[in-house]
Amino acid sequence: MNIILLGPPGAGKGTQARRLVEERGMVQLSTGDMLREARSSGTEMGNRVAAVMDAGELVTDEIVIGLIEEKLEGDRAGGFIFDGFPRTLPQADALGALLDKHGATLDRVVEMRVDDDALVGRITARSTCGACGEVYNDVTKPQPADGKCSNCGASDFKRRADDNEESLRTRLLAYYKQTSPLIGYYWAKETLASVDGLGEIDVVAGAISSVLEESS
Ligand code: AP5
Repeated sequence: MNIILLGPPGAGKGTQARRLVEERGMVQLSTGDMLREARSSGTEMGNRVAAVMDAGELVTDEIVIGLIEEKLEGDRAGGFIFDGFPRTLPQADALGALLDKHGATLDRVVEMRVDDDALVGRITARSTCGACGEVYNDVTKPQPADGKCSNCGASDFKRRADDNEESLRTRLLAYYKQTSPLIGYYWAKETLASVDGLGEIDVVAGAISSVLEESS
């Protein structure tokens, strides 16, 4: 099963994708993670995208489509979770064409709905484990008191350069201008399901599972 998690910055896409990886053996394809990896490797492409990401704007379609195309060449057995991709209509068209090329289908697009005010609180309180990517939140899921990641035991917590209120407002604007049209796009393709992303993490996970069970 191949799915998209669609939602604004801080909706919980990454948090839920990690659960689906653990529970269903799916493969998470996060263009945000791929771009952060590229920028930390200091490649020419990484340097080009760093400033764009920190400002909260979108990286070009050409770059992110290229990143996804490479990943689709790999093992597809567990099914893919597209996390943060597609984000524009050209990216959505490109994903459809790439899946067709591999004889694969897009089974469900799960839209995660969260109020904008809640997103500000979530994003400014977020940190992640630099070793394994486990996501924490100062309010809802604080870093363990012993200073070690509950998932891997590392003591290397990071905060993203774009996790501030100013960048978030630019990211939200990009979401409403460029990404939210995908809600109608996938509704018309009869693959869209919406869940309330405001509940507790386990409750949201249950809602997503129900959608996926209905689709399988
Ligand atoms: P990306 O890394 O994709 O960021 P994003 O879409 O802005 O989403 P986030 O990772 O910020 O949020 P999330 O929904 O995953 O939330 P999370 O689970 O972490 O992209 C970053 C940048 O890369 C973009 O701005 C752009 O520049 C570029 N980019 C990436 N993809 C691109 C593309 N396709 N095209 C062009 N450019 C691209 O949760 C957030 C916080 O909330 C955490 O602290 C978490 O613990 C907490 N939380 C989660 N769920 C809940 C809950 N249910 N209740 C309470 N707290 C919760």
